[in-house]
Amino acid sequence: MKIVVVDRFGGAEVLQIVESPDPQPGPGEVRVRLTSVGINHADLMARQGQYKLYSGEPPFTLGLEGAGIIDAIGEEVPMSRLGEFVVLDARAPRRQGHPQRPVEGTYRTHYILPASLALPAPTGLPPLAAGTLWLSHLTAWGCLIWKQNLQAGQVVGIPAASSSVGLAASQVAHLMGAKTLGLTRSEAKAQALQAMPEAQFDWIIVTHDDRGQLRPWYRDVARVLDGRGVDVFFDPVAAGPYLDYEIRCLSAGGTIWIYGLLEEPGVVDLTPLIRKRASLRGWVLGELLEVPDVAEKAQCEVLTLAAQGIFRQKIAGTFPLEQVREAHMTMERAQHIGKFVLVPNEF
Ligand SMILES: NC(=O)c1ccc[n+]([C@@H]2O[C@H](COP(=O)([O-])OP(=O)(O)OC[C@H]3O[C@@H](n4cnc5c(N)ncnc54)[C@H](OP(=O)(O)O)[C@@H]3O)[C@@H](O)[C@H]2O)c1
Repeated sequence: MKIVVVDRFGGAEVLQIVESPDPQPGPGEVRVRLTSVGINHADLMARQGQYKLYSGEPPFTLGLEGAGIIDAIGEEVPMSRLGEFVVLDARAPRRQGHPQRPVEGTYRTHYILPASLALPAPTGLPPLAAGTLWLSHLTAWGCLIWKQNLQAGQVVGIPAASSSVGLAASQVAHLMGAKTLGLTRSEAKAQALQAMPEAQFDWIIVTHDDRGQLRPWYRDVARVLDGRGVDVFFDPVAAGPYLDYEIRCLSAGGTIWIYGLLEEPGVVDLTPLIRKRASLRGWVLGELLEVPDVAEKAQCEVLTLAAQGIFRQKIAGTFPLEQVREAHMTMERAQHIGKFVLVPNEF
């Protein structure tokens, strides 16, 4: 087996490929030959030592999701499962209650897990996307449907529109009959998004100028929405003036969900929230995974919708495991649209 190990926090150079004997499944376990592993922004943060709740202390292995083929089974597992195409349950890599090693990461060629957490892939599920859907679509589903109970006709503001989570949020919101307002930093990405079936935005607004400086984009929002407010923001940027602008655009009674911190935190005037009777709330996927029946229902729904082609992953690029450093460096340049995928084995 090959496994990516981070033995100190740092840049992409700390990602090491280590060879070890193939692991053998114990009773009730299966071994999955991974063929698709999503690369996430959280992985970059964990590698740099900015997300210790995920990584713990080095050494650790990154990776919060994956899919592949069962190639070995332990005792008590039916023979019929050998050769099955499965998606790792989103809870599988998370070792709750183990602060030293909170995640048993999926950046590796083979993964051992309880057979019950190897979810059969529904017919039609695209193999490359299979191991990439949790951090994008489950995150958006959990917040917008489970927590927010988004309604048809509401307007959802989606910053980082080109990210895998932003694209997923556009699909989730459209599924609920809501209207979507994508926010992206560059004109080039705005144009590319207009032509992409995975990007289901009713309007797209560019938030930065050619020199990368924040523009007063709230004026564009007022213009395209004809003075109407945004009911819900689903926001991973959460910075000073950016957040100020969101509060300006928010409808009375609206909600801003913060689920990431892409920009440096800054001072924000929260007083308009009083007048608008509006809310600022935090969201993390882990909340959904802690409620077993919701986690099961949500994962089943995401896989079913992806198999039907209703949820689609925009694949920004693929990398073999050996090129994991290049993958991280490419993602850090933030020129991509969608999701990068590690392909530890061919499907
Ligand atoms: N809370 C949770 O449970 C949860 C789960 C999954 C992901 N997340 C968060 O979701 C975010 C997206 O994740 P991902 O893996 O899809 O990331 P990604 O592919 O790396 O997306 C990054 C995108 O964010 C935008 N961006 C980056 N820096 C920005 C800045 N300073 N100001 C404004 N926009 C900026 C850019 O999009 P544009 O060029 O279009 O502006 C960039 O392409 C991350 O913050 C991640 O931590 C949170």
